[in-house]
Amino acid sequence: MKEKDKKLTDIIDGMSLEDKALMLTQYPIDSICGNKEIVTGCWDMDGMTNDMIMRVGTVLNVANGETADRIRAIRKENGIDDPLMFMLDVIHGYRTIFPIPLAMACSFDTELVEECARIAAVEAAADGVDATFSPMVDLARDARWGRVMETAGEDPYLGGEMGKAYIRGYHNGGLACCVKHFAAYGAAEGGRDYDTTDVSERNLNEYYLRAYCECVKEKPEMFMSSFNLLNGKPLLAHPELTVDKLRDEWGFDGVLISDYNAVRELNVHGYAATPRDCALTAFNAELDIEMCSPCYANNLPDLVREGVVDEKSLDEKVYRVLKMKDRCGLYDIDKSTDTQKRDKITLCEEFRAAAKKAEERSCVLLKNDGVLPLKKSANIALVGPFADEKYIFGHWASTGRADDVVTVKQGIERTLGRTVESEKGCSYDLLSDDESGFDAAVRFAQNSDVIVACVGEHMYNSGESHSRADIALPKVQTALLRRLKTLGKPVVLVVFGGRPLALTDVLPLADAVLYAWQGGTECGSAIASLLYGDAVPSAKTVMSFPRSSGQCPIYYNHFQTGRPRASGKPAVLSGDICTVGYDDEYNDPLFPFGYGLSYTTFDYSDLKLDKAKMRRDGKIAATVTVNNTGDRDGTEIVQWYIRDKFASVVRPVKELKGYERVELKAGESKTVRFEITKDTLAFFTDGGAFDAESGDFDLFVGGNSRDCLQTGFSLVD
Ligand code: GLC
Repeated sequence: MKEKDKKLTDIIDGMSLEDKALMLTQYPIDSICGNKEIVTGCWDMDGMTNDMIMRVGTVLNVANGETADRIRAIRKENGIDDPLMFMLDVIHGYRTIFPIPLAMACSFDTELVEECARIAAVEAAADGVDATFSPMVDLARDARWGRVMETAGEDPYLGGEMGKAYIRGYHNGGLACCVKHFAAYGAAEGGRDYDTTDVSERNLNEYYLRAYCECVKEKPEMFMSSFNLLNGKPLLAHPELTVDKLRDEWGFDGVLISDYNAVRELNVHGYAATPRDCALTAFNAELDIEMCSPCYANNLPDLVREGVVDEKSLDEKVYRVLKMKDRCGLYDIDKSTDTQKRDKITLCEEFRAAAKKAEERSCVLLKNDGVLPLKKSANIALVGPFADEKYIFGHWASTGRADDVVTVKQGIERTLGRTVESEKGCSYDLLSDDESGFDAAVRFAQNSDVIVACVGEHMYNSGESHSRADIALPKVQTALLRRLKTLGKPVVLVVFGGRPLALTDVLPLADAVLYAWQGGTECGSAIASLLYGDAVPSAKTVMSFPRSSGQCPIYYNHFQTGRPRASGKPAVLSGDICTVGYDDEYNDPLFPFGYGLSYTTFDYSDLKLDKAKMRRDGKIAATVTVNNTGDRDGTEIVQWYIRDKFASVVRPVKELKGYERVELKAGESKTVRFEITKDTLAFFTDGGAFDAESGDFDLFVGGNSRDCLQTGFSLVD
């Protein structure tokens, strides 16, 4: 048993069973009833009295530092000395909001992500927050799922790299953090949030658990267990994951917190018949904090008194929570909010500049027939429901405010130094069929040189509990674009989305497509910079763009299958039969993983290996020349993929194994190097070991997962 801190064990020795159970309970801050000055209405407390609520160990949904200070004071007045820990979802910024994590991952820039996380932590910690429920590192393969916006997309390796960057940033900024949602939450059937997941142990280990495992290396304070049913049991009924895998195999020694009400939902799933059974199930999963349900509080004391659970095991859980608080310094200082410092740093110009840079590096240029960048002298017609819309900053925006946001219209006006008019043309409502604004939009655009149409899905149509069955652009927006196209002018689409939308119908109507995702507080200023070439697009999508909802889930690291369709075409076009595919749809995505354009062009040449065979203790150096063949400086994200051609289990057609942002001046060339070792090739073999197997491999390198140079090598015993 690790040496325990006597300061903490002394505290535990002085606690009653009820105190211990409440230390393992978390409720929202507005549930601290009995304090009318704070709470606007008493929360349904499930048999939790106000006194019990007053004594919980942690709270979530901190409103601000002043509220936190008041709560601390009230607890002191009630004789409660233990320092309360305040937690909040700081997912992509606190008050300065950054692009959604799915967008930030498209930068392939972990330093940028780390810096943005640090800023978020500095702002949040200055306003009373002790911990964030971030990073979310679930694997996302189904764009219908609303929570893809919080992920780093479909690649497990990139997901781990981004998750670790967030943790480093939060820690550097003074915030504890929580890796979520353990586990396989993103595998929900139909892309329906909270729905059933059924994932083989192989796929769990090979894909869904990889990023969580990587994140343990950065020592996050917490992991969060997920809502979903996994392989027939709710997640908290899988001690082989929460104990054997997370704690024993990976060595995580922090706090496991449940997702919101997930303990009580063990009953709703049809697994635990009573709240007491829920408490026991979670206890045996080594759950330390029950979020927003009272099973621990109402049942643990009796479970100990009846000898059903061991008080020593209860003390272990309490110790982990106290140790987390101690790591945050809560026992060393009497925390109170320095409102002057907070007000000085919050949303400062430095932080806004970071948010703008983040969005400039997150927007993916999907198409450009030469119309971008725009000339500042051009007479543009700015149209669409998001032309002057403030709700483009992202769903999980903590204390972010729409009033802080720079809209596209405002961004363009700042760039041009003059007023710009705009015309909505239609609503952003998903089901709107109101075309009454079309004529005005067409009239508004008819004398312009170029149309800039800001379209997409509203930020509240993605995120938690916002899955969609049809991820095409809303019909009324497509109809508006068709009307505008009749003017015969160049059309630039700026598309907002918390997921890759299916753009098949509108792609032919556009001469350029800039995918802005949901871009945080400085979204509009970043988009304007990119539209006018003050910044050059460099981002690459980390989720495949489906051609249609029917293709979901779709991802690049798929298996070959025994009947691949070489053409990849719909059978009605190719006549293909008895091969993998559809009669009425292509197999490939509209835009592949890793895809994104620049205002310059790049090509790759001279892919070389320093040897064709590698021993297990050896390494191969691969080099490639990347050429900027255009007339502008730009940044290329060079991507390295491998394929293990034959192995004890079938391997994907491609797996991302490395990437590098390479800045190249117009006409410049650089040699980029990538080192391959046995570890680069390791996977979960049929025997269950994580190891590389000898044999032949393909190596790919390129600016996306589809268009690559290719060579081969062997790993020999
Ligand atoms: C939510 C989310 C989780 C979040 C938690 C606290 O339901 O699933 O991601 O951290 O509750 O808000």
